[in-house]
Amino acid sequence: MKTKLIKPALKRLMELARQAAEQSYSPYSRFRVGAALQLSNGEIVTGANVENASLGLTICAERSALVRAVAQFGPKIRIEAVAVANLNGLPSSPCGACRQVLSEFIGQNAPVMFPTARGLHTMAFKELLPAAFEAKPK
Ligand code: THU
Repeated sequence: MKTKLIKPALKRLMELARQAAEQSYSPYSRFRVGAALQLSNGEIVTGANVENASLGLTICAERSALVRAVAQFGPKIRIEAVAVANLNGLPSSPCGACRQVLSEFIGQNAPVMFPTARGLHTMAFKELLPAAFEAKPK
């Protein structure tokens, strides 16, 4: 499912991701990223990347949004859709670490929208991370 078709709800989510990127703290890379999560409880939670002088401690926009969502709405949240944006006009799909972290809370078929070299693309989460590590006891 790789499509350029923009459904209105996803388009709105993308707009919120763009707005969230305005809050980015990125003095080291100057790469301003925002993410917006549509939750199954109807709420939308956004996040921006927060960098650190140590570089390795940087938190991506997707994880910043996810941690905010759990802190605000609790451990039962489910993510139904994700939009990622940046203000640099560059491609930015969610990094591998963020895919793994999202996998705890997201549906396999949830659409994830992000900028590519050929415009906005939407992929099902399972296409982005087909073999997530799982360790929950059955
Ligand atoms: N970044 C994100 O916020 N999300 C991603 O999925 C990839 C990278 C941020 C981290 C860092 O602040 C900047 O982009 C450059 O790597």
